[in-house]
Amino acid sequence: MAEHLGQAQVLCASAELLERDKAIVFDVMLWRAPARAFALRFNGVVVAYMNRCAHVPSEMDWQPGEFLDADKRWILCSVHGAAYEPADGRCVGGPCGRGRLMPIATEEREGTVYWYPSRDIQPVVFDDAGPSDAAAPGSTP
Ligand code: FES
Repeated sequence: MAEHLGQAQVLCASAELLERDKAIVFDVMLWRAPARAFALRFNGVVVAYMNRCAHVPSEMDWQPGEFLDADKRWILCSVHGAAYEPADGRCVGGPCGRGRLMPIATEEREGTVYWYPSRDIQPVVFDDAGPSDAAAPGSTP
C-alpha cells in the first residue's frame, strides 16, 4: 500500500464504483505536474493507480474510465496492450516488463471512497483566483 502523507480526499460515493465496472478518473498533481489517476472496484475492494503505463508514461484507458479487458480480469493499456493485475498493479504481460502501476492508497468509509496523497501524488491546488474549470472532488461549487 502507498504511504499516507496527507489528509483523506473525497473521491466519490461507494455506489459509483461497481464491481469490475467503469473506473472513476480523477485529477491529481504527480511530481507537481497535472496528471490523472483512476479508481475501480475489483473483488469488492477499491483500488486506485496513476493513469500512467509502466511501459511508456501515457494514459491507458481506451475510453474514458474503461481500463479492464473484455473478461474484466486485467487492467489493459490501450496503447500497446500491457496487462496489469488489478489487485496490486503488477505487470502480468506485454511490454511493461517488471513494472507496476503507481498505487494510490484508498479507504472506504460509510458509503464514501477517499484517496490519500503521498509524497509524489498530491491533490490539485487551486490558485488565489479560486477553482478553475474543474471542481475538486467532493467540493461544492
Ligand atoms: S504505453 Fe502502455 S503498453 Fe506501451
